[in-house]
Amino acid sequence: MKTDVLIAMILMAVSCTPKLGDSPVEKIVGQMSVDEKVRTVVGTFTQTATPPPVAPGVNNRADYPGSKEATALSKNQVPGAAGDGFPIERLGIPAIVYADGPAGLRIDPRRENDSTTYYCTAFPGGTLLSSTWDTEIVKEVGAAIGDEVLRYGVDVLLAPGMNIQRNPLTGRNFEYYSEDPLLSGLTAAAYVNGVQSNGVGTSVKHFAANNQELYRNGINEIISERALRELYLRGFELVTKLAQPWTVMSSYNKINGTYASENKWLLTDILRDEWGYQGFIMTDWFGADDPVLQMEAGNDLLMPGTPNQIEELKEAVASGRLSEDVLDRNVKHILEVLAKTPRVKGYAYKNDPDLFAHAIISLNAATEGMVLLHNNGALPLETKTVALFGNYGYDIQPGGSGSGYVNRAYKINLDKGLAGAGYTLDKDLAAAYKNYIAEEKAKLPEEYFWVIPTVEEMSVSNEMIRSASSSDAAIITIGRMSGEGGDRSEAKGDYLLSDQEQSLVKRVSKEFHSKGKPVIVVLNIGAPVELTGLENQVDAILLAWLPGQEAGSAIADIVSGTVNPSGKLPVSFAKNYHDIPSSKNFGLSSGEINTVRYEEDLMVGYRYFTTAGVKPLYPFGFGLSYTTFEYSDFRIEDNTLCVKVKNTGLRPGREVVQFYVEKPGGDSTRPKYELCAFSKTKLLSPGETADVMVKLETAINPLEQWTDSGWSLVPGTYRFWAAASSENLILNTNKTY
Ligand code: BGC
Repeated sequence: MKTDVLIAMILMAVSCTPKLGDSPVEKIVGQMSVDEKVRTVVGTFTQTATPPPVAPGVNNRADYPGSKEATALSKNQVPGAAGDGFPIERLGIPAIVYADGPAGLRIDPRRENDSTTYYCTAFPGGTLLSSTWDTEIVKEVGAAIGDEVLRYGVDVLLAPGMNIQRNPLTGRNFEYYSEDPLLSGLTAAAYVNGVQSNGVGTSVKHFAANNQELYRNGINEIISERALRELYLRGFELVTKLAQPWTVMSSYNKINGTYASENKWLLTDILRDEWGYQGFIMTDWFGADDPVLQMEAGNDLLMPGTPNQIEELKEAVASGRLSEDVLDRNVKHILEVLAKTPRVKGYAYKNDPDLFAHAIISLNAATEGMVLLHNNGALPLETKTVALFGNYGYDIQPGGSGSGYVNRAYKINLDKGLAGAGYTLDKDLAAAYKNYIAEEKAKLPEEYFWVIPTVEEMSVSNEMIRSASSSDAAIITIGRMSGEGGDRSEAKGDYLLSDQEQSLVKRVSKEFHSKGKPVIVVLNIGAPVELTGLENQVDAILLAWLPGQEAGSAIADIVSGTVNPSGKLPVSFAKNYHDIPSSKNFGLSSGEINTVRYEEDLMVGYRYFTTAGVKPLYPFGFGLSYTTFEYSDFRIEDNTLCVKVKNTGLRPGREVVQFYVEKPGGDSTRPKYELCAFSKTKLLSPGETADVMVKLETAINPLEQWTDSGWSLVPGTYRFWAAASSENLILNTNKTY
């Protein structure tokens, strides 16, 4: 054959090869070999890594053999990203980059032989974001995170985490939103819409019922379909219908005997067929153990990918155990999403996010989500000298550990935040704390994403307290660290305050109160601790959550009154851990290894407290303000809930209005009432009235209940409440359906 003919033929073949982004996905799949298809459904952690055992007790991803190699493989793209996809150049499929996580992008901040830094903004954690009850702010945070994702060359963000906070001891609660699925789902939808507005993807996780870290790789959760539908799946249903996340991450755990990633009913029948999901589903890192079952269930992508998975899938296709049609279907799901990614679109990223602008967004969100739990008038703090007690004041925790960690450029401690707000701090006390923390930290390993070492509280002598009491007020910080890979404990120093913390509160209060000076407690925690009795001892309690890198400034803005607190609790604070029904079957408490029975069924959080008549210490939906609000004129027009809310106090403020519904049917195993809508007013000036109007959600019907025959709007009279918290129902009206 003549050379020019040959060249022409090659050129023709090349130009006929379909390219992702230009050609229909079916055409590309049609051109792929089995090997290429298999590699498309397995991440590139690859070739060197060995999967971890799936046996119970494997909790710590840092122990996984091969995790160092994973980092090495990511080096060429975005160092520190959690995983990559397999590139097939001839079909225009690049190596897609996947990176964590919920509170901001997690990539390595420094690279070898490179003086540029790649810091990301640490935004507030999930519990704080949902405490804003403000989906616009959450969307703004999502948009800023998505901008960093795009500009740092990542395609898909592995967030948001949105599992139900079933029990306060779950190690990853700080990443999650709430004990209520409506609040979780609407918060997640806002976040996903924000991130994806940048043309990058999200991965809502962990689907589903990933409610504990202990034995997370093998735990079998026994859950009724009703509880699944109404609680554990409902938020995911909302986010799917309202935001179409590009990807969903299946969870490690089993549900009623089947791993989530091998569960066709969950992934295909419900998520895809029933809810209309259009993206693709990936496993959590090394999730479950049978790639063929995962493929068949509709778990499209196995992350981060292992050589065994590649071999097993190839063999399964060759032997006929896995139908190539199933593989084609999954490849198609993946490619349809990849076609939208910045990498396929050829976006030339410049590593240039506006970190300053994002810091302001982080700060605003943090102040909007802090919750004032108690105040006898001490806040806002008018006086100007402050004695700041507690390690966390000088070493604040912006977020938790694990994959949700963010490599930020800095964090603002509370001492700095208070100074910035014009307060003068007791210098000797501050110096003692700073020296102590520096000395103790020098003995500990350096902080990295998996481990954030914390220092035991400094012991403070009565003499130090006496001398510090020349300040006008005391602020005591109490903090907790938790993270991926382990749950918290019920013990003192974790769920309970430690003896040292109790003693500090007692002695500082005695001294300051004897001089008529206020004592304020600031909580730097990601999930509830037991606070029973604390408010009898101190004048104010501010729940700052894990507020992101601007922590100190955000807290100071609330303390000074620059911002009037308007956050409300997305989770109940019980008086006693054993008041919580799931305390009987969480972790090892049921005595059954590797199985957890969700015996409380629907009675999670306020659903239990309000139905059983057990009073929590601080109820779901509760939060104080520096002003007061009055509710009037509650009515329901069509399906819109309307109520007037007037600021009756002296300061501008925002109010989170909640609507609860009592459903008919007389089923005593059901919650007495449930959140069916919410809204946050704009900033109302003193005397100003807002006409709050919220349409009942239409993506799902919050009035339905799960029955043996599926979702049902049980005919009868529904009583609606306009409420300031789950325990403060103010006005009601009925409607018959
Ligand atoms: C976590 C996920 C995370 C993934 C990648 C897993 O250990 O459970 O939430 O996205 O690692 O870092």
